[in-house]
Order: sequence, then structure tokens, then C-alpha cells
Amino acid sequence: MTDLAWWQSAVFYQIYPRSFADGNGDGFGDFPGMIDRLDYLQDLGIDAVWLSPHYPSPDVDCGYDVADYTAVDPRHGTMDDCLRFIEEAHRRKIRVLFDFVMNHTSDQHPWFRSSRSSPTDPKRDWYVWHPGKNGGPPNNWYSTFGGPAWTFDETTREYYYHFFFAAQPDLNWHNPEVRAAMWDSVRFWLDHGIDGYRVDAIGTVFEEPGLPDHDSPLAQRELLEMWIEARRSGREVNEILSREWKRMFRHQHDRPGIHDLMKELRSVVDEYPHAVLVAETDDIDYHGEGDEFHLVFNFPLMNVGDLTADHVRRNQSQRLADLGDAWPCNTLNNHDAGRVRTRFGDGSNDEAIARVAAALLTTLKGTPFLYNGEEIGMEDLLVDDAGLFRDNLSTWVYRSSLDLGLDETEATRLAAFRGRDKCRTPLQWGPGPNAGFSPKGATTWLPVHPNHREGVNVADQVDDPASMLSWYRRLLAARRSSSDLVAGNYVSLGTDPDVVRFRRGSTLVALNLSPRTQPIPLEQPRIVRLGSHRTEGIAIDTEVRLAPFEVLVAV
Ligand code: NOJ
Repeated sequence: MTDLAWWQSAVFYQIYPRSFADGNGDGFGDFPGMIDRLDYLQDLGIDAVWLSPHYPSPDVDCGYDVADYTAVDPRHGTMDDCLRFIEEAHRRKIRVLFDFVMNHTSDQHPWFRSSRSSPTDPKRDWYVWHPGKNGGPPNNWYSTFGGPAWTFDETTREYYYHFFFAAQPDLNWHNPEVRAAMWDSVRFWLDHGIDGYRVDAIGTVFEEPGLPDHDSPLAQRELLEMWIEARRSGREVNEILSREWKRMFRHQHDRPGIHDLMKELRSVVDEYPHAVLVAETDDIDYHGEGDEFHLVFNFPLMNVGDLTADHVRRNQSQRLADLGDAWPCNTLNNHDAGRVRTRFGDGSNDEAIARVAAALLTTLKGTPFLYNGEEIGMEDLLVDDAGLFRDNLSTWVYRSSLDLGLDETEATRLAAFRGRDKCRTPLQWGPGPNAGFSPKGATTWLPVHPNHREGVNVADQVDDPASMLSWYRRLLAARRSSSDLVAGNYVSLGTDPDVVRFRRGSTLVALNLSPRTQPIPLEQPRIVRLGSHRTEGIAIDTEVRLAPFEVLVAV
């Protein structure tokens, strides 16, 4: 194991800061709260955390609209709190990654305020401005969060470009001053001791030169209609939607120049030899020749309705072949995707399926990323009052659905489902008021899931050896102590429709994804290393009957 870099053997844990722990009782997570919970994370057995943005932000996109890259949003605490967090994490041997949002800033960032003030402002060219065409915007491009990608700015009577919300103007990365200023902010936190970055939305940094129209025959509203129709009839339309989405946005995504820029970012980060870069993309080209990102997420693994054995096998065989020498990186949920337990649950075996999914994530080859709350089996919460939406994507879907003639209840339900509030609710620390996230009487920034009263909370699980939390701790401990599970090659075994079976090095992993008993052959007698249904250390013969949803790791 010794020849692996730290980020290859580490287990990462994503903290969504506003929802993790509220130290000052204002309903919003903060650094003092996070510091108090570092012992919990250490006990869980993780090695590194990635924090979603903690920077000052007007919060049009829950912090992904940054108004100052080198400061701390006062709602999260002070700079001292933040530095203390880094120090305290390091004291517990937990590395710290921050989020680098490079495609855009907030429209409240001083750079954009300056840029929009006059066509001759020194920062004018720091953003993407255009006088427009034929009395309208320069082209027919959309913002991925709804509506046109160009917003007309009254002050200078020109349009600015934004791939995301209008309050998230795209930076002009062709401008060397932008690059220099952004690289300085990258260095700022590395100089303060962090261990790397998860880099946001890299694919959207450049646009097609000449700004040609997209040629999709569909309007964005029609894509939304297709999605609504599919939801209503229970059909999966992911493929069509993602194909059409790609066509509609093809001039706004992965444009030439991006790989050179990522190499430049890498060379800045390489000034800090321990630091790691993780890309928010599944495109393995972003490994470059080993000179861009260290890790690129295997999103295709998680982007399915059902976690089937076939899907896992196909995903692994393709991904590992494509990756070549690059190191895999797996995750099953994050702050944008719904929670594992809700997405992969079948309504009657949700907990059991979530346990098998956790075993899969932590035994596959590659660096696993957990998302805060999955370790206690947190579920999505569909907010049923549009007035409580905090994700403006939900608000856009809600308004558009009303425009399309849906009634209030259905519009709210679909918007809550499509938006991301559902998987961002406060972490459930206990069964009491506000799930112990905030004190009694505080109003949390999003509602807490009521199932915190039914055992889905840390306090009820921490000392229960049969709990989900204990299961995660066992999985992470098993992984940590097994060079096979960290570094061993992956060899797929069998083609059973319900069982995922593979070897990591000489260790066998068998996961029954079905509610039925499944016989599996073993090539040799083995010893249970970790089992959901069998005692560690007992011998097993060459014929094994896996219980429903059984996890078996054997040496
Ligand atoms: C990806 C982030 O994960 C998401 O939450 C955000 O809305 C967009 N990038 C824009 O920054």
C-alpha cells in the first residue's frame, strides 16, 4: 500500500457546511459546529473531507455563487474558526479539501460589480460581455438552470453570459488577469494548509468561439415538458433527456482550451506537492496525461434508477478499461443527486439495499466519496411548500410547471423532486428537537426530515452494533486494514443477474442485491473477513448460499 498516494488510499466524506452542524444555534451550519463533530468523523473512519463552498455568498445557488474567494461567509463563522477547523482536522489526521468554483462568480463579487459599471472599466473583460445581435441576445443559448444564458444589463446596455443562474456571471478565462487572480485564490487556501480542491463545473468554463446557435429542434421548455410527462407516467427518460441536453448545450460545454487551462491549474496546485485535485466531471479526459486532475468521479455508476448487478459489472469493466493508469473514484450521492437510500430503495428493502450499496462503494477499486448523512441512512425529503424552497432550481421548475398548467400541488411536488433541497436537509444528530442540528426553537435553513425521530440519527445509532452507522464503521475499518480492498486489482466474477461478485487482489466480495437467497460458487474455501450475516473469522466452504441482501467479504 505504501506506493499509493494518500488520496488513493483515503476515504473522503463530503460535508455540506450549511447542513452539517450548527454551532451557534441560528439554524445554519458553521465551522464551530463542524469542529465539534470532528471526533465523530474520526470515529467513523474517514480520512479526508471535502467542504462545499464556505465563502461569502448571496446564496442564489446555495454558496456556489461566490462573492469573495478568500474569505469565510460570516454565517459559517470567522476566518479564525475556519483555520481552527483545518488545524483540528489535521490533528485528527483528516485532510481538508475546499470547493473551487471557477466557471463563475456571484454577481455581487466586487469584480463583477466593477465589470458591469462601465464598458471601459478595467475589469470589463473579466466577464463575457456582448452587445447582442439584431436587437436581441447574441444567440439562442440557454442557462442550464432555466431561461436564456444571456442577461441584458441596463447600466451598459450589453448582455453578459451565464451558464448557470443570471446571478452567476461566467468569468472570462481567456483573460490572463482573471487567471492570475483566480490562481492566487487557489494558492490562498493551500497556503493556509488545505490539502486540495474539488473543482466545480469545469466543463462550462469556455464557450464555442463565434457563439454559434445550437441546433436543437427543442426549446428548453419542451425538455421540461418531456421530463414532466415521464415523471407522471413513471417512465425513465434519462437517456433522451441527456442526449437532447447535450445537443442543446454542446457549444457551451467542454470547448477547446479547457485542457490547457486545467494543466495550468494543476501546475499551480503542484507547487504544493501533497495537494490533490478532484474534478466535478465523469469525463476521464480530465486526467490529461496525468497532468490535469488526480481524480474524476465515476458518476455513471450512480446515475441510474436501479443499482443492478449488470449495471455495476458493465460500469466497472468499461470504466476501469478507459481509465488505464488513472485512479478510479466512486460515489453514490452528493448535494446535487438524491440520497442513496431513496434513489436505490425499492420501498420495502431500502435499508438493506443502502447497506449493500455502502459495501459496494467501499469495496470497489478506487477512492470512495461519502456524502454526509448517508452513514446513518438519511433519506430525501420532498419539501411540500414552495415557499420553503431554498434551491432556485426548484423555484424555476415550480414556476415553469405552473405556466405549463400544472396545479399547485403537482408543481410543488415535481419541483421538490427535480431540485436539490431534498438531499440537503440538516444532518440528524439526535431524536430530539431539530434533530439536534440546531437547538429547540431555532428555525433551520431547510426543514429536518421527520424520520430523525424514528432512529435515523447519530445518537440512536452510535452505540448500536446493528445500526447503519456501525455498518459504515465496520466497512471503513475493514477497508483500512486490507491492502487488497485499497489497492488490489478488480476481477469481475460471474454474470448472476442479482449478485455482484468480484475479487480485489485475493479478497472475494459477494453482494446479493436481491431479496432472494442466492447460491454462489467459491473457487476455494475461505474465511469471512466481513459479513452482514456471518461472523468474522469463520470458515466457509466452496458452496455458499447468500441470504437476501447479504454482503460477504472473504479472504
Ligand atoms: C455544480 C455544483 O455541484 C452545483 O451545486 C452548482 O449549482 C453548480 N455546479 C454551479 O456552481
